[in-house]
Amino acid sequence: MATLQLKDVYKSYDTLEVIHGINMSLNHGEFVVFVGPSGCGKSTLLRMIAGLEEISGGEIQIDSERVNEIPAAQRGLAMVFQSYALYPHMTVQQNLSFGLENLNLPKTEIEQRIQEAARMLQIGPYLQRRPKALSGGQRQRVAIGRAVVREPKIFLFDEPLSNLDAELRVQMRVEISELHRRLGNTMIYVTHDQVEAMTMADKIAVLKDGNLEQFGAPLDIYNHPANRFVAGFIGSPRMNFFSGEVSKVEANTITVRLNTGHDVKTKRSSHQVAVGEKVDVGVRPEHMTLTSADQGDLKAQVYAVEQLGGESYLYCHLGDGENMTLHMPGQTHIRKDETIGIQTDEQRSYLFRAADGAVL
Ligand SMILES: Nc1ncnc2c1ncn2[C@@H]1O[C@H](COP(=O)(O)OP(=O)(O)O)[C@@H](O)[C@H]1O
Ligand SMILES: [Mg+2]
Repeated sequence: MATLQLKDVYKSYDTLEVIHGINMSLNHGEFVVFVGPSGCGKSTLLRMIAGLEEISGGEIQIDSERVNEIPAAQRGLAMVFQSYALYPHMTVQQNLSFGLENLNLPKTEIEQRIQEAARMLQIGPYLQRRPKALSGGQRQRVAIGRAVVREPKIFLFDEPLSNLDAELRVQMRVEISELHRRLGNTMIYVTHDQVEAMTMADKIAVLKDGNLEQFGAPLDIYNHPANRFVAGFIGSPRMNFFSGEVSKVEANTITVRLNTGHDVKTKRSSHQVAVGEKVDVGVRPEHMTLTSADQGDLKAQVYAVEQLGGESYLYCHLGDGENMTLHMPGQTHIRKDETIGIQTDEQRSYLFRAADGAVL
């Protein structure tokens, strides 16, 4: 069993506070992804959990026990880095056994763990090679293997796939998920890639500027983003946002007059919205449909078309400097410079307060 609690965790470097009080609770066996833009504090948070970085305030608990003062090596965690951090002068086998010899484990036990990890990660054939004779993907498997053989309570991954090419990233993503399924350990995985977060996580922690913006299951976050930042960060391509002002409030519907002059409706989920309030309407590219130019809520001019065969994207100007993306299943006959009509789905449109981005 391994649960993890972060209780009001802070971090400052000298006078600069970079983590501003994070609370989070991880259940045993969960795969939790920390996601957010570069510099938001993902690595700092992970390194504090690992014990590689002191915490400036709050408490970290593993299995309900405070670990603030426990050194990294005794926390029972294993970390995998983006840079692999393999010993170049050692063979793969030696890289895998190195940490275990320091634990004074019997030779047969070490051998058995290495064989098991090598089989699981398909690195058996390379055990006698040195890291420089391996591809990037193979090196990353060895780095993961080095964590696996330690049989940690919790695995920590810091952007482990960032150095790999796109195809290999997809493959390794599936392999790491499979590893999690087999081992059943609690895992924390840091990435700036929201697709990795959506596809791998049991729960996603969305971070921004050292704050936890939202913590929940991927589809809950996609369907119910807490604010404009989360809405824009989770989902690909990103959600479209249109600025405007509430023009009508009805029992079930709120109408917004956009700065572009268009009127769009959203379902009313808040009672704290008044006519005249400045808002942003958010609509995902996949929640809009194409209509003829004289119909639909929005009229837009197409400035680029991407045909991927199975799906298409239209990139459009909406007027007043606002751009938007429309996703279409299948192939499209629409060409650059055409004017199109777009129908938004009132049930799947979001309303955010312009002042602070809070969802309304
Ligand atoms: N050793 C350090 N000294 C001072 N500032 C640091 C140090 N490490 C990280 N930071 C700052 O802390 C913030 C979070 O960094 P980091 O955790 O590396 O972000 P991420 O991993 O999300 O890209 C950044 O503003 C970064 O500049
Ligand atoms: Mg980082």
